[in-house]
Amino acid sequence: MQNLTDVLASSAVPETLQTVLTVTTETCIAISDALKQGSLAGILGMAGNENVQGEEQKKLDVISNDMLKDALLACPAVRAIASEEEDYIVPANTDGEYLIAFDPLDGSSNIDINAMVGTIFSIYHQTGDQPATEADFLIPGKEQVAAGYVLYGPSTMLVLTTGNGVNMFTYDPTQGTFVLTHENIRVAQETQEFAINMSNQRFWSANMQNYVNDLVKGKDGQRGKNFNMRWVAAMVGDVHRILCRGGIFIYPWDNKDPSKAGKLRLMYEANPMAMLLEQAGGKAHTHTQRILDIQPEAIHQRVAVILGAANEVDTCLSYS
Ligand code: AHG
Ligand code: MN
Ligand code: MN
Repeated sequence: MQNLTDVLASSAVPETLQTVLTVTTETCIAISDALKQGSLAGILGMAGNENVQGEEQKKLDVISNDMLKDALLACPAVRAIASEEEDYIVPANTDGEYLIAFDPLDGSSNIDINAMVGTIFSIYHQTGDQPATEADFLIPGKEQVAAGYVLYGPSTMLVLTTGNGVNMFTYDPTQGTFVLTHENIRVAQETQEFAINMSNQRFWSANMQNYVNDLVKGKDGQRGKNFNMRWVAAMVGDVHRILCRGGIFIYPWDNKDPSKAGKLRLMYEANPMAMLLEQAGGKAHTHTQRILDIQPEAIHQRVAVILGAANEVDTCLSYS
């Protein structure tokens, strides 16, 4: 079986990008090892700080952020990084060619219950003769040259696109490498499974309430078929399920805080997942537009996310 290094070496991916992907994924293996230690290493619980978005940081948010930050800043091919856990972008090497935005630990509310979490990353190619600034990061997601995530579940898996389909790799601890286990993933156009946090129902727009009501009515409603529901509370887990067996994932706009377009962050959650979904034949939209077409205005900006099976995303949007 091919490992990640072989797959990258036999692809059209430039060597500098191969290096950035190797550094990123090797650091994720180290994060996976740290997660496995759990309470034994004293790494669970709160860090006692808030990030720039006003969210309480867990110790593992900070540890995984520091691991990725240190590794990427030391990589000559990296021009700058942006992270959920960093207030500002961090310039690395002015001569570097890649900008990397990441969510070091997605689903961190799952840490304390020993459930699924992951790391999400998004990579852009960019050169310049001045150190990178936040404005340099404000590039639409359709310009990403690579995107992916590492899922820390029963096995540690890497799901990656470099713009030529989606491959899944499973970490083999006996070899210390990611091994290609699922090639050219495709998401079916139709589905009977949805993922949304139903506890927010009363805060959604009337259109979203109508759409979900019709899903819940199943065979007795106008959809004429029954739907199942799942919610991992880690986007990385919900997207992984959709890539494996189909479905639709929605974190819509809601009026809990009308000033926020949504909960999820464009640069390091929505954009990389949107690229993966589109590369697998699915769709990823906000209520009004394709996610990958959004012109970002700030590195921590939030968006509504409706992604998954192409026909189901269209059906959801048809309620608007
Ligand atoms: P993070 O842990 O990086 O802040 O992200 C959590 C996100 C996302 O992964 C998940 O889909 C969503 O928050 C869950 O939100 P609820 O707690 O509202 O269900
Ligand atoms: Mn997240
Ligand atoms: Mn996070």
